[in-house]
Amino acid sequence: MTNTFKAVVAGTGSYLPEKILTNKDLEKSLDTTDVWITERTGISERRIAADGESASTMAAKAGKQALEAGGISPDDVDLIIVCTSSPDVLFPSTACFVQNELQAFNCAAYDISAVCSGFVFGLSIVEQYLKNGRYENILLIGSEVNSRIVDWTDRSTCILFGDGAGALLLKRVEQENPLGILSTHIYSDGRLSDLICVPGGIGRTGVNKQDIDDKKYFIKMSGNATFKVAVKRMTDVIREALEFNELSMEEVGLLVPHQANQRIINAVAERLNYPMEKVFMNIHKYGNTSGASIPIGINEAKRSGRIQPGDTSVLGVVGAGLTWGSAVIKW
Ligand code: COA
Repeated sequence: MTNTFKAVVAGTGSYLPEKILTNKDLEKSLDTTDVWITERTGISERRIAADGESASTMAAKAGKQALEAGGISPDDVDLIIVCTSSPDVLFPSTACFVQNELQAFNCAAYDISAVCSGFVFGLSIVEQYLKNGRYENILLIGSEVNSRIVDWTDRSTCILFGDGAGALLLKRVEQENPLGILSTHIYSDGRLSDLICVPGGIGRTGVNKQDIDDKKYFIKMSGNATFKVAVKRMTDVIREALEFNELSMEEVGLLVPHQANQRIINAVAERLNYPMEKVFMNIHKYGNTSGASIPIGINEAKRSGRIQPGDTSVLGVVGAGLTWGSAVIKW
């Protein structure tokens, strides 16, 4: 099928749980300090889902806001994709719960799993469906309840993560339209699957008491090794996006990187010779919200006026898998 269409962002939304957990709060239960966390990660506080909140409830709130912003009724949504690595249950998909919550019954709904890179992987799927004319309106949501899959006694991981959801409504337009998704590039390297993982195997071993006692159903991470690989992969894949679009960094209005660690982002910006004033940051408020980090960032940048009509934004992500990717959006 020839591509006669492309994808534009028609609406954005996000939802952050009300409860704030500060570094000072963590000092009370962990051998850590506000100074250590702030200096090593840039994180000051993160949001924590309340009882009764989950990836699907937060996703539905973010999705509803994106639909309202785009002026689209739930009846006109053709597809809902939820990017999550902290789904409500193993199955059915979180997206099916979201569909029910939004009462968007004329669509298909499914999840994808690419962890912190999930949203850019999702964007690459949406781009294909809209380009080839299969669908007209797609709701792409990233939603994570990381607070339920971190070990709150492990100071090297629990300080990093937070909960939240973000959503984009993407719409099919004619190929001639200068706006929209200009490119997506995605990669995986399964040889690095041990760097960040939840090792407890549901399908591999079945849930068992030993794995529960060994805390294998929580996030495990080799922080240092991940840090180095994250900087390199994110820099390289952003460079690839620039070359593909024949863009220079000067022509990029805003870089929206995955918010994993302030120092990873600083190192990427430095390698790209890109000023930090043009890098979107909200890690101090939310920590690493995995698959939700990019759409929360886009929504906040859009609503605060940091993204203006005519701007070009570049997204860069890296996550467990290992997975990594980039995307370019013209607004
Ligand atoms: N408070 C105080 N000390 C801590 C700590 C905390 N919360 N977490 C770890 N430490 C200690 C370690 O135990 C270690 O102590 P030791 O030297 O006595 O053994 C020391 O700090 C240094 O640990 P190290 O792991 O080398 O620190 P770091 O500078 O690499 O920072 C991370 C750790 C996790 C913040 C950092 O590696 C990181 O952010 N990595 C990337 C993680 C990431 O973003 N993953 C997701 C990608 S999508």
